[in-house]
Amino acid sequence: IEMEDSILQIITKLFGNAVKLACPEITDLPIIDISLSGNKPNFGDYQCNSAMALANLYKQLGKKVAPRVIAQQIVEHIQPHPLVNKLDIAGPGFINIFLNKDYVQKYLSAIFESGEVKPPVVKKLKVLVDFSSPNIAKEMHVGHLRSTIIGDSISRLLEYLGHDVMRINHVGDWGTQFGMLIVHLQEKFPDYLIKSPPLSDLQNFYKEAKKRFDEDEEFKKRAYASVVKLQSFEPEHTKAWNLICDVSRKELQKIYDRLDIKLIERGESFYQTRMEQIVKELKTAGFLENDDGREIMWGGGTVPLTIVKSDGGYTYDTSDMAALKQRIEEEKVDWVIYVTDAGQATHFQTIFACSEKVGILKKDKHRVDHVGFGVVLGEDKKKFKTRSGETVRLLDLLDEGLNRSLSKLKEKEREKVLTEEELKTAQESIAYGCIKYADLSHNRNHEYVFSFDKMLEDRGNTAVYLLYAYTRIKSIARNANFTLEKIKQVSQTHAISLDHEKEWKLGKALARFPDVLLKIADDLFMHHLCEFVYEIATTFTEFYDQCYCIERNSSGEIVKINVSRILLAEATAMILERCFYILGLKPVSKM
Ligand code: ARG
Repeated sequence: IEMEDSILQIITKLFGNAVKLACPEITDLPIIDISLSGNKPNFGDYQCNSAMALANLYKQLGKKVAPRVIAQQIVEHIQPHPLVNKLDIAGPGFINIFLNKDYVQKYLSAIFESGEVKPPVVKKLKVLVDFSSPNIAKEMHVGHLRSTIIGDSISRLLEYLGHDVMRINHVGDWGTQFGMLIVHLQEKFPDYLIKSPPLSDLQNFYKEAKKRFDEDEEFKKRAYASVVKLQSFEPEHTKAWNLICDVSRKELQKIYDRLDIKLIERGESFYQTRMEQIVKELKTAGFLENDDGREIMWGGGTVPLTIVKSDGGYTYDTSDMAALKQRIEEEKVDWVIYVTDAGQATHFQTIFACSEKVGILKKDKHRVDHVGFGVVLGEDKKKFKTRSGETVRLLDLLDEGLNRSLSKLKEKEREKVLTEEELKTAQESIAYGCIKYADLSHNRNHEYVFSFDKMLEDRGNTAVYLLYAYTRIKSIARNANFTLEKIKQVSQTHAISLDHEKEWKLGKALARFPDVLLKIADDLFMHHLCEFVYEIATTFTEFYDQCYCIERNSSGEIVKINVSRILLAEATAMILERCFYILGLKPVSKM
């Protein structure tokens, strides 16, 4: 059996070939429509729904053919394949597909053979994921936290698939806010060049500067002049700018370290000379239009990009044009993914359209995605704020998560069973895990309500439930005294049996893992993976309730071990581990 392709890939190919033979009159064949059949056993495991669409195409040719007849034709032309056990036609022309046990068994045994859950085979690409990207000195808010969590998870998934991934933190370190910050710094700490100013409370410093900027016209003028100097790399301004960026950078790094997120900082400032360059090019090629003193460029939408402001300065738009050019032409990436709030969708669509227009972006060679997400709301369904109406500081939020997860563990009296070290590991795993999982498990297009109470529930599709489910699964082999060595050894002599209905259901669910990954690589919706993990955990529970793994006598001694089921439990654990890794969760063996 060839294991290179995923289940859906095999079925789609088989049906694609059969449809070609069954419907020779149709030249423009529709995409083969295969879906899961749901939980009714006599409906098969997957179904092909293409017969109806094909009947319509025949109608357009002036031929009346019943979908059922087409379905029959397709079935007759399906090549035998070890994956497919049986095909059935149902209703108006659905083709039900029943999988073979051998195939699923092979999928599971391969995990023990190689000692790892291998990713599906894909063409390797160079991908740049632009995520997190807060604005220096301004506070990093929960929106940036969403970008950080989603971007990290997408990067982990693509890395697992074998792509070459650049994780880029496109920080806002070059905007007009630096003018007021630098002038405020120079005036508040005149000896800043010799003595490092106390900037630890950068947020407050930002507020002071902003207040002066809004209230004092003279200050405002000095601020604007200062941006120009900064952007022409005047040394004292560069020094002041560096001081501010460093403080901000250290604060950000604390958050990334806690969440175990790796990023390369490459902010807007990196593109200054490239912005000058691209502006020249756009001008020469005649793409810019003068609009009341500013230079704009249209991308076909309703809003143009502002490439040069009337005062000669560059904008967010200019930096993104320069950045995309740098990424495609210098980094030679095949794929760029931007993770920001949905409010920036138009911005990115215009950037993509303009880049295509000037020939930087070639749609047949490059893929670009804007991965948008909805706003984070508080439990009152209003914008997420502290009680006093301030923006929530992310470090405070992470601390609250830690406190809450510790009380949760203490509620269960876990401190009595776990060592101090184990308790701390569990506390962090739950706290950061629940924050990440709550975010990833919601469809990112929707707004989402941030609620520690909800995310710490131990029932339902939550990190806590899943992490506990995992520790229970891991304890099965441990209780049977099956070490890793032993599992490897027995897996060579014992096939995983899938005879019991619940074993079979679990096995089939696990074998869908490659298809789930491929779907996410296509649409970049991480909640599919959360739904999968939850389904695995609940399907495992059904299996475990009905199928004994270890039998004990009345005095608790082990009298019988079902080796095949221990292996099925281990395979489940290994796939869950892989999913957790992609979701940025850290499972613990005891909690
Ligand atoms: N700094 C921006 C913000 O806070 C996000 C930057 C996203 N990346 C980009 N290449 N524009 O909204």
